[in-house]
Order: sequence, then C-alpha cells, then structure tokens
Amino acid sequence: MTTRVLTGITTTGTPHLGNYAGAIRPSIEASRQADVDAFYFMADYHALIKCDDPQRVARSRLEIAATWLAAGLDPEKVTFYRQSDVPEIPELCWMLSCVTAKGLMNRAHAYKASVDQNTAKGVDPDDGVTMGLFSYPVLMAADILMFNAHKVPVGRDQIQHLEMARDIAQRFNHLYGKGHDFFVLPEVQIDDDVATLPGLDGRKMSKSYDNTIPLFDGGARATRAAVMRIVTDSRQPGEPKDAEGSHLYTLYRAFATPEQSAQFRQALEQGLGWGEAKQQLFDLIEEEVGPMRARYDELMANPERIEDILQAGAVKARKLAAPLMERLREAVGLRSPKAVAMSAGPSKQVEKKARFVSFRDDDGRFRFRLQDTDGSDVFLSESFDDPKTAGMLIKRLQQGLPDAALHGDGKTVELRIDDVLVARLSETDVPKLRSALQNV
Ligand code: TRP
Repeated sequence: MTTRVLTGITTTGTPHLGNYAGAIRPSIEASRQADVDAFYFMADYHALIKCDDPQRVARSRLEIAATWLAAGLDPEKVTFYRQSDVPEIPELCWMLSCVTAKGLMNRAHAYKASVDQNTAKGVDPDDGVTMGLFSYPVLMAADILMFNAHKVPVGRDQIQHLEMARDIAQRFNHLYGKGHDFFVLPEVQIDDDVATLPGLDGRKMSKSYDNTIPLFDGGARATRAAVMRIVTDSRQPGEPKDAEGSHLYTLYRAFATPEQSAQFRQALEQGLGWGEAKQQLFDLIEEEVGPMRARYDELMANPERIEDILQAGAVKARKLAAPLMERLREAVGLRSPKAVAMSAGPSKQVEKKARFVSFRDDDGRFRFRLQDTDGSDVFLSESFDDPKTAGMLIKRLQQGLPDAALHGDGKTVELRIDDVLVARLSETDVPKLRSALQNV
C-alpha cells in the first residue's frame, strides 16, 4: 500500500542550510521511495498570518519553490503546489471551522503563548491576536484532510496541530459521515534522525538567532563567508582539537560520508587548524550545493518556468480536491444545482424518458399528465374519483397505445381505454402522443 505523505512549508523566509539538511533534503529523499505518494506545498495562506509585507511573501514563495526544485524535487513524481492555488482548501477550512470547538483552539500553544505574553505585559490578553493566528490549526487541518494524508512529517512544535487535525476530522466524520468516513486520521511523523544543524554560534541554526549559513542566497561567496565566521575555540594550528565538542564537526558530518567524517575527526584531533578545517567544510558543502546553486540561479532567472510547474501541480492537486469537496458540500447540505446537472451527465440525457406525473386536483380528484422527453405536456388527463383508476390507466398506457384507443372527429381526438375517456387532445398532437408513449 502506498503511504500518502504531506507537508507544508510556510513562505516567510529564505531557506538556509539548516532548512536544507533538516527538512528539504530528507523530504526529497522520502519522496523517491516507491511506496510513498508525496504532497509538498507552499503554505502561503499561512504566511499571511505572520507577515503583512506583500513583497516578502511574494519573494519567499518564489525562492522556496526554486529551492525545492533545485534541490532535486521531481514535480512529476510529487504533487508540488501552492496552497493559494487550491481554492478548495479555504473552502474546506470554513466547513471545518463550523465543527471545531472554540475551546479546542483556546488550547493551541501558539495562541496561548501570545495570551501569556500579553498577560505578563499587563495588556489585553488578545492584544495583537488575529483570527488568522487563532484559527491557524483549522487551516492546517484543512491542508492535511483535503488530501487524506496518512503521515505528516513536521517538527516537534507542530505535534499539537496534528492532534487537533485528528480531532476535527473525527468530529466531521461523526457529524456527517453516517458510517462512512470522509477523512483519514493523519499521523504525525517526527524524524529524530534528521539533522538539526547548529548555527554559527552552536545554538540551533535559526533565523531568529541570526546565526544561519545561507543556502543559495548571496551565492557561494556568502556561504563561504558564513562558514568562515563559525565560532570555534582558540586552539592554534597544531594543537589537538576536541572534534566531538565542536559544532563545526557536527556541520561537517551532515554532509559527509562516515569515512570522510572519521578522517576529518582524526585530522582535528591531530591538530588541523580551524581555518583549514573551515575551508574543508566549505568545499564539502559546495560539492553538494554547488550544482544545485546553478539550477537555482537558472530558475530564479526564469520565474515563469517555476510558475508553469506550480500551475501543473495545482491542477494535479485539484483533481483530488474538487471531487472530495463536492461530496462534502453534498454531505452538509450545500449541493449545488450545477453539480446535480453535472452528475446527471450527458450520457443520461441520451436516455431521457417521457413520463406520467400523477397529482391530486384542488377538488380532491385524481389526474395525471404525460410529459414528453423534453418536459413539455402531451396531454392532461380527465379527473377520476379513484387514484386506482388513474393508476390502472397509466399502467395500460405504459404498455403502449392500445388499438382503437383514438376516436377522432377530424379536429379533436379522444383517448379512450376500455371505454373510459382518458384525455382529449388535438389531432395535431397525435404524433407527439405516439412518440412519447414509445419513450416511457
Ligand atoms: N504550520 C507548519 C509550520 O509552521 C506549516 C504547515 C502549514 C504545515 N500547513 C501544513 C505542515 C500542513 C504540515 C502539514 O511548520
């Protein structure tokens, strides 16, 4: 069985080396496994929650898309798209919002952290809290449930969001599923083997610590310059170094084979100078990143190529999202008349039938009409005291026009069955009557 794996990347920053080793590289590797059906998308609606700078959001979506493609993501194998190109996602988000308890959102870590900060500052608890931030987990649930992902690889800070997605899915299934589940319950996937790279100062590499090594931004020069700024101890060349204790060695290992790592470690312990060690680290990074950088620059110079790939990804994603959304609309009572017409489909129109419609008159008597294939009336019957009489006459007519049922005087025709007058119609309507009765 194939496992559907889905993850989103918020488009606010520019990816750095830590993002590459910690998220991009392992995700691309995972997507190459035969039994994995991967969905990777740019969470650009999520970006609006954190960032109100349009230029920055626009630039980041482009850079992130180019980074993933340059790093080797195969958009033919993976469904790679932008959240904002799939309008079914915000639509689903609304449906989920309507079954999500506000109390559940009150417990979200990100929201609670804002409230705690506000309380500590002595301002209104909800100061600066938008509805976007508050209901962020519902949008994330929509991202995941829209494609019925089984596994969602994320960082530890996202575990609670996955639990909420499961809660919301269960609630929707329970309310509308009627024994049939619309949504798979997604499982969080935390990969502890994946490298968390240290930054220049040894703390986790993160933009908020301003300790990052750029991946493509600024070219090879910028990457080299950052590597040369990695903080080390003050041991001189020739003095033995503590490899295990240095984050430079940790960075090296994230790009090296075990043999290379062992050699590097030995060289440090035998007194390799830090300057030379940094150069070796840069060369190693460049071996992997250099060819990608060329592809990255090429893509950034041709943004329309990125756009084409993303549009193709959106088409692929919507092929799954649109039919599910249609079923969900129907489940909640929002089936559109257009969808009814569409589901009737052209093939059914071919076999459209004429039909009898029975009804009760204002005076309480029973009548019926024969409607032609196009919905127009062929005749309106006389009225009868007994619905059984009307029913019997319909049955007889459904078997075809009985011989000698038509009694004409040249202008009007009486349709009679066993001497019972069924209806009067004009002579010119007789062909229509015959053809309608062949099509009931
Ligand atoms: N919230 C995630 C983060 O900040 C990004 C994200 C948005 C996501 N939608 C998602 C991750 C759906 C996994 C699945 O990292």
